Amino acid sequence: MALKMEEIVSLCKRRGFVFQSSEIYGGFASCWDYGPLGAELKRNVKNAWWQSVVHERDDMVGLDSSILMHPKIWEASGHLATFNDPLVDCKSCKSRFRADHLKNLETCPNCGNKGTLTEPRQFNLMFKTHVGPVEAEDGSNIAYLRPETAQGIFVNFPNVLNSSRKKLPFGIAQIGKAFRNEITPGNFTFRTREFEQMEIEYFCRPEDAPRIHEEWIQARYQWYLDLGITPSKLSLRPHDKDELAHYAQSEESTGTTDIEYQFPFMNEPAELEGIANRADFDLSQHAKYSGEKLTYFDPQTNEHVVPYVIEPSAGADRATLAFLVDAYHEEEVKPGDTRVVLKFHPKLAPTKVAVLPLAKNKPPIVEVAKKLRSQLIKKTIAVYDDTASIGKLYRRQDEIGTPLCVTVDFDTVEKDNAVTVRDRDTMLQERVSLDQVERYIQDKLDL
Ligand code: GAP
Repeated sequence: MALKMEEIVSLCKRRGFVFQSSEIYGGFASCWDYGPLGAELKRNVKNAWWQSVVHERDDMVGLDSSILMHPKIWEASGHLATFNDPLVDCKSCKSRFRADHLKNLETCPNCGNKGTLTEPRQFNLMFKTHVGPVEAEDGSNIAYLRPETAQGIFVNFPNVLNSSRKKLPFGIAQIGKAFRNEITPGNFTFRTREFEQMEIEYFCRPEDAPRIHEEWIQARYQWYLDLGITPSKLSLRPHDKDELAHYAQSEESTGTTDIEYQFPFMNEPAELEGIANRADFDLSQHAKYSGEKLTYFDPQTNEHVVPYVIEPSAGADRATLAFLVDAYHEEEVKPGDTRVVLKFHPKLAPTKVAVLPLAKNKPPIVEVAKKLRSQLIKKTIAVYDDTASIGKLYRRQDEIGTPLCVTVDFDTVEKDNAVTVRDRDTMLQERVSLDQVERYIQDKLDL
C-alpha cells in the first residue's frame, strides 16, 4: 500500500525527526524543524554529499559564504528582474495558485467556479529586508535573503582561484540556507520558504562543458543510488526549452536535467536536484556589474577565458525527505504482527548501534553494556537504552532505522564474554565475543 504523507508526518513527529515549526503558537506556515533524529539524518545527508563532492575529489574545494550580500548581486544575476512566479487569485473562494501549475485559467481548481480567476500577476520570490536600524525611504538599504547559494560562489570565484591556485576544470561546493517566498509551498518539507541547498559550481573550458555536464548528471544520479535509493523510483528528466531558468537559456547552454524521485504522495516524479549548464552567464554578468575581471588565465594558450559553469544544485531537505520515505517499510513479521522499519543506508542512519541490556536491574549486565557503549561511541554513533523489554527495544530501533542492536545478557557476564548482534533488515542474530565486537560492527557498517 502506498505510504500516505500523514503517516510520514506522524512518524516524524512521534520519533523526533521533524516537528512543525512554532507548534506551541499554532505553527508557522510551511516551516519545519528537525528534531534530534532528523538533525542527525540531515547532517548525515550533507556530510555524505560533502565527502563525495569535495573530499573524494581533487578538483573541488568548499566554501561557506554569507546569506546577506550586496544587493547589486541580484540585479546582475537576473533574480530581481526575472525570479518571478505568475500568481492568480480566485475572487470567489480566495484561493491562490501558481498560474503555471494550472491546466486552465477558466475554472478555479478549488471551488470549481468559472471565470473567477484573476489575470496572472508576476510575483518576485525574494525575501526583502533592511540593513541597519532604520528603513530608508528611498530603498537604499534594502537587502535580500539569498534565493540560491550559487551567487555566493560566483562572486568569490576570483578569491578562490587566487587562494587555492586551482586549474580549470575545478569546482566550488557550498551547503547553506536559501529563502524563497513560494506562492504554493507544501508537501511537508518538499517545498518550503526556508530550505537548505547543496550546490556545486564547476568551472571549465567552454568546449568541455557538454561532456562535463553529462559526467555530473551521471555522478549525481549514482550518488543517490549508492546511498540506497530504490532505482525504479529515481529518474532523469531533461527540461523542455520553455521551462529552462533564465541562466540556462542561451544557445551555448546544454540546458538542465533534473534528477527526480517518485514520492509516494505525489502523482508524478518530482525534482530532487537540477544539473544546469549556466554557460558564462553569471561570470559575465558579475564582471559587467562589478567592473572586475572574472576570467581565468590559461598558461597553455596564454589566453584569458571566461569559464563555463556546470551546476549540480540539490536540496538538502528534499534529499533527506526522499531518503526517509524510501527507507520506510512495513513488514509482517508473523501473522498479525507488523513492524515499521526504516532501512537507511548505514551512512545515513541517525544512530548506528544500540546497546541494550537484557535486564536493567542486573548491575553486571548494565555495567558491561554501558562500558561497551562508551567504547563504541569513539568510533560511531552508539546509544544505550534500557527503558523497555528487549522485544520493544528492537522495534523502537527498527522504527528509527538503527542498523545494529547489541544485547548484553546473562551469558555475557556468566559464561561466554560474548554479546548478541541483531541485524535490522534480516533480524538475524549472531553471537560475537566482546573483544571482537567493535571490529565486527565496523566491518558490518563499512566504517
Ligand atoms: N542555483 C540553482 C537553483 O537554485 P533550483 O532548481 O531553483 O536551482 C535547486 O533549486 C534545488 O533546491 C532543487 O532541486 C530543490 O531540491 C531545492 N529547492 C528549490 N526550491 C525549494 C523549496 N522551496 N523548498 C525546498 N527545496 C527547494
